Amino acid sequence: MKHQDLIFSNDVASHLDALVEKYNPSKLFVLVDENTSKHVLPMLVNESKTVANATVITIAAGDTNKDIESLMHIWTQLVEGGATRKSMLINLGGGVVSDIGGFAGATFKRGIRFVNIPTTLLSAVDAAVGGKTGINFHGFKNEIGAFCEAEAVIISTRFLETLSSEELLSGYAEMLKHGLISNVDTYNRFLAKDVANIDTDEMLQLLEESVMVKKRIVEEDPTEKGIRRALNLGHTAGHAFESLALQRKSPIPHGYAVAWGLVVELILSHMQLKFPSIELTRLATYIYENYGAFHITCDDYDALIEFMRHDKKNDSANAINFTMLKQVGDIHIDCIAPEDDIKTALDIYRDFMHI
Ligand code: GLY
Repeated sequence: MKHQDLIFSNDVASHLDALVEKYNPSKLFVLVDENTSKHVLPMLVNESKTVANATVITIAAGDTNKDIESLMHIWTQLVEGGATRKSMLINLGGGVVSDIGGFAGATFKRGIRFVNIPTTLLSAVDAAVGGKTGINFHGFKNEIGAFCEAEAVIISTRFLETLSSEELLSGYAEMLKHGLISNVDTYNRFLAKDVANIDTDEMLQLLEESVMVKKRIVEEDPTEKGIRRALNLGHTAGHAFESLALQRKSPIPHGYAVAWGLVVELILSHMQLKFPSIELTRLATYIYENYGAFHITCDDYDALIEFMRHDKKNDSANAINFTMLKQVGDIHIDCIAPEDDIKTALDIYRDFMHI
């Protein structure tokens, strides 16, 4: 897989103009959704001579629009806009834009250059980096896609002021996850912060530290044959919470689901690998105080376990696969937890969450 250039800077326009000068594309396209078209694109049009002259492609916002229709719209706009193999696509938006724009870039004429400019904390810390691209299909998330890295990712805190505190906390959960799978120092630094009061310079430094954790893992295992599964910490239980919330017709932000999923999976880590209880309590307290609780009763356990069983990360139909930790930074992938242990972990989760 090619080298991905990660740029951490709030001077997004100059870096983008320099990249365009370096690659000298035959034509430049900018992909936005309805939100970034309104709130972010005008800033860049003002500041960047290349964006001012680019052809803009707009898709509807939201994960339900990360679909084949939006993808066809992007391909059509590329054809009608005269894109060639030497054209370049700038994906300006959150995870939906970088996922679908990346896939359009990976597939159009068998691949054109693309650059991701994430505009949410969640996409800056996760989706925009590491080459996972794709769309939802037939009711399944990210069912069709390709591993294909952006030429460059420009990560800034410029656009975070347009985000709600819920969106910031959602992204911060993935940063905590990166802390947990890296080392005690990094993790402690993340856990010491009050997300609502991090200034933009400090957030940029924390973002860099967090994204570099992901970058190192992706470089080792770009196509998720092994250690990249470390990045799934919190996600088996987290996706089950997300699916249950969808079933209840009351969706929760992805990062919140991951935050609660981290608590469940560290309880399992404590049960199976003796992950220290003091660290578990510290994390559960932070999550409860900042994210509140996702309410479940024991009547939800079977449904949650069913969702976990059907998670894409499971290679076998019956076993439920987790990434666990023995200590902060001591990662164990492909851990199997029996149903009884999962139910006990959900009981303990409810104790931590005071429900
Ligand atoms: N979001 C996890 C990964 O990129 O592997």
